[in-house]
Formats: sequence, C-alpha cells, structure tokens
Amino acid sequence: MSLSYYEGKTFHVVTYGCQMNVHESEKIRGILSTLGMLEIDDINKANVVVFNTCCVREGAEDRAYNNIVSLKKVKSENKDKIIVVCGCMSQQKNGKYDLKKKLPFVDIIIGTHNINLLADYLSKFAETHKRIYDILDQPTASMDGVKCVRDDKINAYVNIIYGCNKFCTYCIVPYVRGREKSRPVKEIYDEVKDLVQNQGYKYITLLGQNVNSYGKDLEEKMTFSKLLNYLCTIEGDFKIKFMTSHPMDFGDDIIHVMKTQPKIAKALHLPVQSGSNKILQKMNRHYDIKHYLHIIKKLRHAIPNIALSTDIIVGFPGETEKDFNQTMKLVKRVKFDQIFAFMYSKRSGTPASEFLDQIDEHTKNVRVNKLLRLERLIQKDQIKKYFNKTYDCLIRQINGVAVGITDGGKEIYIPTYRYNNQNYFALVKVEDIRNHKLSGVIIK
Ligand code: 5AD
Ligand code: SF4
Repeated sequence: MSLSYYEGKTFHVVTYGCQMNVHESEKIRGILSTLGMLEIDDINKANVVVFNTCCVREGAEDRAYNNIVSLKKVKSENKDKIIVVCGCMSQQKNGKYDLKKKLPFVDIIIGTHNINLLADYLSKFAETHKRIYDILDQPTASMDGVKCVRDDKINAYVNIIYGCNKFCTYCIVPYVRGREKSRPVKEIYDEVKDLVQNQGYKYITLLGQNVNSYGKDLEEKMTFSKLLNYLCTIEGDFKIKFMTSHPMDFGDDIIHVMKTQPKIAKALHLPVQSGSNKILQKMNRHYDIKHYLHIIKKLRHAIPNIALSTDIIVGFPGETEKDFNQTMKLVKRVKFDQIFAFMYSKRSGTPASEFLDQIDEHTKNVRVNKLLRLERLIQKDQIKKYFNKTYDCLIRQINGVAVGITDGGKEIYIPTYRYNNQNYFALVKVEDIRNHKLSGVIIK
C-alpha cells in the first residue's frame, strides 16, 4: 500500500488567510498525522510541505506565491520532497498567477473542494510520481469528521456552515468556496460537546462565511439563534463565539440569545465595510448605515459591555473623499473595540473588478492610514471605559501573573491573585488603569 510510503516521514503546513483556513489546516495536519507522519517546524527539512492558500486580497496571493517559489531551490536539491498547494488561490479561475504553469516544481495542486481527499492524492503520487493538478467545481464529501490537530488548547474552531450566497461585488469567496451548506445540528452538537467535556476547551468559535444564514438550507427547521440556544444546553464551563456575521441577517433573535445566555461570549464581529450608503449599495451589501447603527444601538442596549469589531474596505471603486469621510464619521460614532481595515483589492471574476471608477493605490494608502490613525486615537481614549466595570473573564497566567481575559480579548492583570494552573471563568472588576494597562480583582 503506497500510503505506507509516508509513515515516519515529516510534514510542515503553511497557512494563509482567515480562521476558516486556519481550521482547515488543522484538518490537513489531522490527515497527515493519521498517515503516521510527524509535524516539524523546519520547512526546508520537511518531506511534505503543504501550502494552504488564500486569495481574498492580492497581498495574500503574492505572499503565498513568493513563499512557494522560494522553496524551488530546496526542492531541486531534494527531489523526494513533496510540495502540495491547496485552498482558495488554486481554486480561483483566472487568478493573478497561473499556478499550474508557473509552479512546475509543485507536485500536487488541488483546490478547496477536495482537500479532504489529500491522503488519496498523496497515495496516488507515491505510486506514480506523476504531477497532480485537480481542481473540482463541486464539493466532494465534506471535511466533517476528519480528525483535527489543534494548536490552540483554549479556543477550538468548529465549522457550522460552508460557502457564501451573498456575492458582495468585491469578494472572491463565493467563487472559490461555493454555495452555502450548513452542517447538521447533531454533528455540530457532538463535536462541541466532545471539545468541551473531553478535551477541556474554554472557547468554541463557530465558523462560517456568514453564520447568520445557518440552517436556511437544512430540512429540519433550524436557525442560527436556535443552534446557539441548543449548544448552550451542553454542560460545562465554556463560552461560544462565532464569526462572521452579516448585518443584513443579524436579527433580534440573535441579540436576545447573546443577552440571555451566559455561555455566549459578549463579543461580536460585524463587518460594516463602508460608512457610505452609496458604496454599500455598489458593494451589494443589502443594508444601509441607518440599519447598521440600529443593530449597534440594540446590541449595546441589551449588552452594555459588548466588545465590537468590524471590517472596513477603503478605496472601493467610486469612493469619493465624501464617501470616505462618512466611513471616518461612522468609526468616530461607533467607537469599535477593533477595526480590520483593508485597501480594496481587485479580484478578477468579481463584478467590482470591472467597475470603471477604480481608485489609485496612493489614495487608498492615504485613506487606510488615516483610518488606522483615527482608530488608534479612539482606542487610546476608549481604555477609560473599562474603569470600575466588571467582566466575566477567562483566568489565565501570563508572564507569571494572573490575568483575566475578557470576551473581547482585553487583558486585566490581577496582581493580588495566586494562579492555580487552571483556566476558568470568573468575574473581574477593573480597579486601576496605568500605562494603558488594566488591573483589577476577582470578585466571584
Ligand atoms: N479587497 C479588500 N478587502 C476585501 N475583503 C474581502 N474582499 C476584499 C477585497 N477584494 C475584506 C472584507 C471582508 C474581509 C474578510 O476581507 O472586509 O469582510
Ligand atoms: Fe464575501 Fe460578502 Fe460572502 Fe462575506 S458575505 S464571504 S464579504 S461575499
């Protein structure tokens, strides 16, 4: 059996992109470990190297491409080394780089829909030593149930829905990840239960390009908020996070669950993308700023201490100074806890790449820096809001000191407390702010 070829050999996985890819790489590591392979840090020494790629922006593509190319010399000195490229970049049609042509030294190129078959491709390669290029249009059997090798011992990712039906005009994801497909409730429930009760995970992050669409394609009557409620019936000291949410589908039922269920983390990532209604419409986002602000208002009313983060694209085609200033105004108004700001990147095959009113790189650069400067100022000022407030934190030890970590990831030092080597949730009250650092005491 040619798979035995891999037993005892070493592997290294390089990951680009979002949490979805990070989690998929955990499954890739699971597949390779099941073959009896050992993971090592040295990419040059590893017998098998897997690049799990991203194509959401040009920068991610360039980074992956350059890193793959830089392995060419090592490969020429060690012909037995096997290089695999998979993920969104190889799935993309008419991308910036024609991987098949430009990377002749890569042995196996597969896409997003057949990573689950990696062991079969490796087996075939060991038998034939013939280069494999196989990009499928439709998903094959899912990755569900594939063993994961997780790095993080605190937070575990769990897929709940794959793909996206939204077709925002700038976004390549629907083209490389296919249509929305929800996982059955029972499967998700069993996975979360095992992670919490048998593996000791404290945070479960539910993943999907658009988690709020969960259940729409299932036969059983299911919604995202029902799923959350159901997962909260699992016994244990843990919390649930989820990403990513879409403002269009973010209903009051989800706010209600977030407010009433102690097991749902009080943190939310809600990408707004732009502060201009004109741009939102051109982006095909299906909401306006009034709607977005209304959600924020309801969230803050229901959960006063909620941590909010967002994604913003600057320099989308047709974005004028006025449109950009509306984004700045929105950011000043909402005072997000964290912003992920991106310069618009043209993705071939998406509608926005054909728009004639593209913005030059210099303007995009100036705008993104302006936005990030504003965000830093807001952050500096925002730290005051923590004073005298109480947060349900995960208690951990950092550099020898006990620290409470809020659902939003903020650290509160607890100098008077002796850490007992166990991670658990407790209420921490912030009593002091010095040098932009919070400190407090455990009150329960
Ligand atoms: N250019 C820049 N940013 C993009 N994003 C998605 N597509 C593009 C693009 N073409 C950003 C969006 C999304 C995040 C994951 O990446 O803000 O929410
Ligand atoms: Fe892309 Fe929009 Fe789908 Fe998010 S909702 S993955 S931005 S198309």
